[in-house]
Amino acid sequence: MNKSKVIIAPSLLSADFGRLKEEIQAVEAAGADWLHVDVMDGHFVPNITIGPDVVKAMKKYSTKPLDVHLMIADPARYAPRFVEAGADILSFHIEVAANPGWIIREIQKTAANLGRNVKVGLVLNPDTPASTIHEMINHIDLVTVMSVYPGFGGQKFIERALDKVEGILRMKPDILVEIDGGITLENIKLAAARGVRVFVAGTSVFHTKNYAASIAALRQNAEAAATGPGPNYGAEDAKRPNS
Ligand code: DX5
Ligand code: ZN
Repeated sequence: MNKSKVIIAPSLLSADFGRLKEEIQAVEAAGADWLHVDVMDGHFVPNITIGPDVVKAMKKYSTKPLDVHLMIADPARYAPRFVEAGADILSFHIEVAANPGWIIREIQKTAANLGRNVKVGLVLNPDTPASTIHEMINHIDLVTVMSVYPGFGGQKFIERALDKVEGILRMKPDILVEIDGGITLENIKLAAARGVRVFVAGTSVFHTKNYAASIAALRQNAEAAATGPGPNYGAEDAKRPNS
């Protein structure tokens, strides 16, 4: 499509769940690079959303990579099921991973058995320091920085979450950093300037009338500010790995 160096990932949590197929198609036509899928289990977060069967159904109607964010207490048990369901990017929280290296290998093994290429990510809550992923950073493809306490869409952006981006990029300058929660046309610039290159946006896409205009405006503001640190990811990287 374009040569954008940022990835805009609308969060389907804010979509109309009764019209998921239409919402997926609409947001893809509107220029989404990835589709962000929030999986919540009622244990790790006080909300319950979707499971692997729904991800599998979404996969049927999507042509963009599914960026699956596991907010679940037992990622070791369930992560492979989300690979099988069709996740293209699969991230879990470091706070609940007793043995993150093992989970990463299980995800990769499951993907390899299916002949698929899956990116693996770790997610940090607003109060979790960057140092918690130090030993894992060379085994993953992306790090997601939560800029809200996970559980619900439509919350207010926590600006101090951006402070850890520098530390993450210092550990590995070409790691892809994603930000998730409360992204607006204004704060997306702050995040891009710190080196974030993947932007999850629920409310600021799905709760607007014109998805294409909203995605274009987010992209424009992020690109304009993405001049400092952070990798230069082209549109190739935003394509689905297996099709
Ligand atoms: C929060 C989720 C986010 C959320 C983003 O627990 O992980 O992905 O849906 O939605 P907004 O952009 O509305 O904060
Ligand atoms: Zn999310």
